[in-house]
Amino acid sequence: MAPMSRVLSGIAPSGNFTLGNYLGALRHWVALQDDNEAFYCVVDLHALTDSIDPAALQANTCDAALNMLAIGLDPHRSAIFVQSHVPEHPRLAWLLECTATMGELSRMTQYKEKAERHETVRAGLFTYPVLMAADILLYDAAAVPVGDDQRQHIELARELAIRFNHRYGETFTVPEAIIPPAAARVMDLQHPERKMSKSVESPLGTISLLDSPDDIAKKVRKAVTDTDGEVRYDQDAKPGLANLLDLLAAATDRTPQEVAGAYERYGDLKNDVAEALSELLRPVRELRAELEGDPSHVDQVLAEGAARAHAVASATYVRAAGAVGLLPPAP
Ligand code: TYM
Repeated sequence: MAPMSRVLSGIAPSGNFTLGNYLGALRHWVALQDDNEAFYCVVDLHALTDSIDPAALQANTCDAALNMLAIGLDPHRSAIFVQSHVPEHPRLAWLLECTATMGELSRMTQYKEKAERHETVRAGLFTYPVLMAADILLYDAAAVPVGDDQRQHIELARELAIRFNHRYGETFTVPEAIIPPAAARVMDLQHPERKMSKSVESPLGTISLLDSPDDIAKKVRKAVTDTDGEVRYDQDAKPGLANLLDLLAAATDRTPQEVAGAYERYGDLKNDVAEALSELLRPVRELRAELEGDPSHVDQVLAEGAARAHAVASATYVRAAGAVGLLPPAP
């Protein structure tokens, strides 16, 4: 049998998982574990690029792991682990920092946007995309399922893999991004010009993975649209409505244009969006409630996940370290 191809992705423990995380990435992780050898990590080292209370970081990391199980990841098929439990991530990041250039990191749009919001910028925020490249390249991942906002970061990981291979000999698999056709960029319901985000406070604009049906209905009802009243898919002229159409399209496997054709009134559309999202997230809410009864299960999943991840990551790291000429430690 041909070896299965590898998939890797990660999520930062920087707040409650959102509907954007789910539609843009997480639900595709679940689908991909069927036919691939999958590695999914909670990227706690990435969370340190922003100010985060240490106790909150720990709590969020456990919560993220619980959510990864609640969405339907199967720990027998997917290695579910915490990034900092596999020390090769920052070690390979160093080798890749010595491969990347200041110029290309300065062009990263997420870095530029985040740097604008802070008075002082941590060096880790600048090198963040290199650590992300290390996350991916350590596992020889052929595919990386992510939302649209990570496109440029995956492009950089590809570029670094190609450059490293060229400079030091064939070492890394060059990864491809897998970006979903619908809802690859879910927008904030109150500010449809900006993406829904777990790290930006917007209680009415953000649907969380574990929101109750009533909360979902309230937020969708209050979602900002426009006053012309015509249901049509136009992201530039009608961003709020387009977002709702995208959500219903993603939840019901249609195109947003098809969805738009089925409605005449915003109110009817909103009712169906709320209903479809509640149903979509119902199994996640239910499984999460069950899992909360057995916290030791998560510890075990993370321990096993880290062991599987470490076995792969350490072999890749040794290969990369050897390629650049680092002297191997005496056996
Ligand atoms: P993060 O934690 O911001 O988001 C996790 C995943 O959710 C996707 N996503 C969205 N998709 C659609 N609409 C949205 N509003 C939305 N918000 C978030 C993201 O695209 C992502 O796929 N740098 C990454 C984490 C990371 C990573 C990696 C990902 C670290 N190392 C290696 C892949 C491979 C991040 O901050 O994602």
